Amino acid sequence: MLMAEVIRRKRDGGELTPATISEIIAGVVGGGVPDYQAAALLMAVYFRGLTDAELVAWTQAMLHSGDVFDLSHLPGGKVDKHSTGGVGDKISIPLAPLVAACGVKVPMISGRGLGHTGGTLDKLESIPGFRTDLPSARFVEGVATIGTCMIGQTESIVPADKRLYALRDVTGTIESIPLIAASILSKKLAEGISGLVLDVKVGSGAFMKTRERALGLARTLVGLGNRSGVKTVAYLTDMNEPIGWAVGNALEIEESIEVLRGEGPADTVDLVVTLGGRMLVLGGATGAQADGEARIRGAIADGSGLEVFRRMVAFQGGDVGVVDDFGRLPRASASVDVVAPVGGTVQAIDCEGIGLAALVLGGGRRTKEDAIDPAVGLRMRVRLGAEVKAGEPLATLLVNDVSKVPEATALVRDAYIIGEAPVSAGPRVLEVVE
Ligand code: URA
Repeated sequence: MLMAEVIRRKRDGGELTPATISEIIAGVVGGGVPDYQAAALLMAVYFRGLTDAELVAWTQAMLHSGDVFDLSHLPGGKVDKHSTGGVGDKISIPLAPLVAACGVKVPMISGRGLGHTGGTLDKLESIPGFRTDLPSARFVEGVATIGTCMIGQTESIVPADKRLYALRDVTGTIESIPLIAASILSKKLAEGISGLVLDVKVGSGAFMKTRERALGLARTLVGLGNRSGVKTVAYLTDMNEPIGWAVGNALEIEESIEVLRGEGPADTVDLVVTLGGRMLVLGGATGAQADGEARIRGAIADGSGLEVFRRMVAFQGGDVGVVDDFGRLPRASASVDVVAPVGGTVQAIDCEGIGLAALVLGGGRRTKEDAIDPAVGLRMRVRLGAEVKAGEPLATLLVNDVSKVPEATALVRDAYIIGEAPVSAGPRVLEVVE
């Protein structure tokens, strides 16, 4: 393979063979393909895209660049969910135990958040003692015995993504839909799953800002997942206001437990029920979405989802006492209300601003090396369409470093657009791509 020739071929709109793609990815991981040539090829892909066949080959080559879990010895469906990330998105945390309680296994390997608040792993690690770095055999044991286990990406899972993502990050090629799809799917396929539900967020505070781009990504992911042998469905969901009331790591653990107790915010519960219902269908536990949803609601009502959560926390070394006593979670030292500057109706909430406020308080990270403060964040006090009077709280900041309060306050105040027109929040699920 002459790499310069490969780059030219892609640049001119030609198609690469699976064998060539597999050599490229092996070279990226092994060092045979230097960064400057890999970067040039990524830019050619950015402009020319990948054909369906190229995308499958690219994803398979990435997947097999590292360890792949084999869960075929476990009976029944193995289904995961992936979200492209939103503000207050704690859905995976109540979802996985509820789906497991209904008989479908959920092997979940998540990433850490960069920007906004933390990712699922950061949230789980706010439970004292909770370990997300379990060895592979322990992960498989957790899935087999409890029905779910949630761990972090390791060096040996899809190492090609680590190299390629780092290059994309500094060469203006992050935004390529086929490259995003290959990156997401290769990591999910490594879990050894048979089904996958994707939650593609759209709106302010989401990775995909427009519905058109989100739909493009959802269609590419669904096509790629199904062609790779995993039953895949995507939900396009609205991210024009945070999910639930809590934004911040330990705060989102509290809200997740409230969902499992049957005391969660309606929007959060509804999304868990919708996605969970679909996971039960893909996992073969039921043939109908409505029945799947009813079972998820049943697992909330009878406490079986909460019981699986307790077992998972114990299995992963966490303090199970947090389930009954939120005081055992990290707590911020101060709380400060952000009040409405004028009265009126909440017309819009800029989720990006809310996420940034949580980041400023220490709840997210700007670089991979930043440490997260699990205790801080904010609680939304009013949602889209709510009436507020001047001076009434819009949100409460939970703070450890009071020097951050002015910046976080300004971000939250600016994020709330208050006006006169009546507003009602639209549906969270915008579209389903099958
Ligand atoms: N998330 C990923 O895992 N990969 C991307 O390329 C973008 C978002």
